[in-house]
Amino acid sequence: MPLPSRVKIVDVGPRDGLQNEKQPVSAEVKIGLVHRLQDAGLMNIEVTSFVSPKWVPQMADNAEVMAGIQRKAGVRYSVLTPNMKGFEAAVASHPDEIVVFGAASEAFSQKNINCSIAESIERFAPVVAAAREQGIHVRGAISCTVGCPYEGEIPPERVELVARLMKQIGVQHVGVADTIGVGTPRKVQRAMEAALKHYGLDDVSGHFHDTYGQALSNTLAALEMGVWQYDTSSAGLGGCPYAKGATGNVATEDVVYMLDGMGIDTGIDLEKLVDAGAYISAELGRKPNSRAATALLNKRQG
Ligand code: HMG
Ligand code: MG
Repeated sequence: MPLPSRVKIVDVGPRDGLQNEKQPVSAEVKIGLVHRLQDAGLMNIEVTSFVSPKWVPQMADNAEVMAGIQRKAGVRYSVLTPNMKGFEAAVASHPDEIVVFGAASEAFSQKNINCSIAESIERFAPVVAAAREQGIHVRGAISCTVGCPYEGEIPPERVELVARLMKQIGVQHVGVADTIGVGTPRKVQRAMEAALKHYGLDDVSGHFHDTYGQALSNTLAALEMGVWQYDTSSAGLGGCPYAKGATGNVATEDVVYMLDGMGIDTGIDLEKLVDAGAYISAELGRKPNSRAATALLNKRQG
């Protein structure tokens, strides 16, 4: 399989990156991050989630954030919608894409969205139908595709099952997520293969958290299979409130640096991307969690 010549990156920093932040981040700052990401050339940005504010208080300003973005032509703005209530609220904000999120682990499904895998599919079905009727693209995220904080290792058959169920209800694309960043290249490839039994190569993506420092290797392993779409997070922000100890997504800066070096086009300006990551990191009072960003920032200081 030749390596892809082009990679699509979805920056999930404003959503996955910030959802787990304990300190409140203002809508203005979140909007500032989205603006900087689109200025850096990101064409796909996961902005927020329409989930219960009791469960994830950081995302309670979802509508305000969506309303405050000065949209750039051609950029796809996506939001998470776990059920019809979330979808109806989201629609008023005119997202280009919605994300339903399930899991390959029963225990994680219960902890994260308070229902079983089968129940989650029942909840997603009307959301998917309504979105497609309105011409909104539907992505599905499958959490815990290699490991679960509650159940341990997850066999690829479980990933295949959830991919099949998502396909049956009309989900157009699935993201294979290593929620807690425990995956290693061969395991991630097996999870990808499982999703690819039901989705074509153009309709799967990788979403790798970097807890054990494996996310870049896992990205390369998926690239070798021809997978060309990835969720990443500027400054390596992130984590899921229901996956304790798991750290952020692979940093967008690190992935773009790697792809630039491999001659694979992303359309992203790395220097401007570093600025976006430095901006949100300064707002959070810390340094970017990205080796490439750190190196480039150090180099700027001479
Ligand atoms: P539930 O309690 O089972 O829902 O929550 P319910 O229908 O029984 O409703 C209970 C209350 O929640 C009611 O309010 C509803 O109105 C309200 P009350 O009457 O008690 O005041 N409610 C809502 N409010 C706002 N928006 C909604 C909504 N739905 C119900 N959409 C629910 C079910 C899914 C809502 C809840 O479990 C929840 O919000 N969970 C949060 C899940 C989450 O955001 N997790 C993090 C994102 S997923 C992730 O990070 C993984 C990913 O990155 C991939 C990876 O790395 O693996 C995508
Ligand atoms: Mg995630």
